[in-house]
Amino acid sequence: MDLIPAPVSSVRLPDQDFPLDRTTTLTAPPELAGAERWLRSSLTAATGLPLAPGRPGEGVELLLDAALAGEAYRLSVRPGHAVITAGGPAGALWGAQTLRRLLGPDAYRRAPLRPSGWVLPGVDLTDGPRFGWRGALLDVARHFLPKSDVLRFVDQLSAHKLNVLHLHLTDDQGWRVEIKRYPGLTERASWRERSMVGYRSAGRRDDRPHGGFYTQDDLREIVAYAAERAVTVVPEIDLPGHTQAAVAAYPELGNTDVVDTGALGVWTDWGVSHNVLNPSEATLRFFEGVLEEVLEIFPSEFVHLGGDECPKEQWKDSAAAQARIRELGLSNEDELQSHIIRHFDRWLAERGRRLIGWDEILEGGLAPGAAVSSWRGYSGGIAAAQAGHDVVMCPEQHVYLDHRQAPGEREPVPVGFVRTLEDVYRFEPVPAQLDQEAARRVIGTQANLWSEFMDSARDIDYRAFPRLAAFAEVAWSALPADPAARDFAGFEQRLAGHLEVLDALGVEYRPAGGPHPWQTRPGVQGRPIDGPPPAV
Ligand code: ACM
Repeated sequence: MDLIPAPVSSVRLPDQDFPLDRTTTLTAPPELAGAERWLRSSLTAATGLPLAPGRPGEGVELLLDAALAGEAYRLSVRPGHAVITAGGPAGALWGAQTLRRLLGPDAYRRAPLRPSGWVLPGVDLTDGPRFGWRGALLDVARHFLPKSDVLRFVDQLSAHKLNVLHLHLTDDQGWRVEIKRYPGLTERASWRERSMVGYRSAGRRDDRPHGGFYTQDDLREIVAYAAERAVTVVPEIDLPGHTQAAVAAYPELGNTDVVDTGALGVWTDWGVSHNVLNPSEATLRFFEGVLEEVLEIFPSEFVHLGGDECPKEQWKDSAAAQARIRELGLSNEDELQSHIIRHFDRWLAERGRRLIGWDEILEGGLAPGAAVSSWRGYSGGIAAAQAGHDVVMCPEQHVYLDHRQAPGEREPVPVGFVRTLEDVYRFEPVPAQLDQEAARRVIGTQANLWSEFMDSARDIDYRAFPRLAAFAEVAWSALPADPAARDFAGFEQRLAGHLEVLDALGVEYRPAGGPHPWQTRPGVQGRPIDGPPPAV
């Protein structure tokens, strides 16, 4: 049973297999109706078996056990009876995912390859996650990803028991969420005239306009689809930097006394734009208006407000920004950024939500309720955890999956550090120097997929997989804390079966021997960083 991520424990019972047939039933209490519905629709599509509702005590049965944690479950398979006992709806869904895996790779197809021969192997299995936040970021701002591909990615996350989809919805290069009171954000800021081909220094552009946006109903659909698969969608509205697209649509949001913001377009470069928000009250009101609509779409406890990479030059040059610093009694531009983040920390808390931001939000003082996505290494996360803040560890040196997977020229648009499958498998989210209390503040970990050099789901498949499978095991399974003690060879053995699952799902992962010819991008310049990533 090549389960990825590995369960807490499992015992194979060779004489206890349960062959499924047209009379096999599927039953659940009302509290687990979501997992029941998902399991029936997935397995009915893949096997052709009806799995009609039946009686308790037979067939495939989902049960609730309040003594278990919400995401934990037990699975027992005996002839004629397979039982998933879960602590809550999410645990039931994870148990259902495991049950599907036990039926083999063909259980991941959308239509049956054969009418019979579906056998659940006899097993006693207990399982539950190490971390409550097991995330992946999709950057749909640099390159828009059509809704159908986002839904497909949700299926992939759920199949790996990853439970957070962090959607990076806004950036210098595009605004992807419909905001009804500000139609310019999608009329103007959702597309760009052209893009750079490869890294900035190559100076190469195509002249193909691209873009797109999600309507509010599209996003509600994504949120509901994800919820049915035990995945929470955390939206990111990045501010006060990474906002050129918004400024291009509404020039009054920019630093109008230092730059002609009316002449700006959606940025056609990669990188970090200097065209950031002005820090006025009017701008705060504008983004409160944005967030009011965002909160209506996304029920997640956490709302990500970015806060990363906000160049301060315009604020230094702007008389209005300097007057604002004096008016607020602040001492510098970092504190101005902190003031903005604190404002929204309070604003979100008043509405029963929590702010999460990139580790730059530590600069100038961390807002009282804020959680931190530690991306520039571990240090921001360590400081935040030691100060009693929740932390999601996603250091770029380890789990930025847009970074290349192997050295050499054949990796498509090679950027960043070489992070092999094995490197990701040996990534440890909780740094050893945290004491027990601070370590508990690491609520989870996340792999990030930035899309400057990925313009389609096929590209995302290539960069994400199979590394996201290794990451899922890091996030879910109780692997040894010492990365050197992890059984990567054992993981690789289980991966062979897992790749058959990915094949059945139609995921175009990177083959172990390197890219297929159609996965290469000869001549497109990247930005490889040589040598091992710095110690963090
Ligand atoms: C980031 O990579 N700027 C969060």
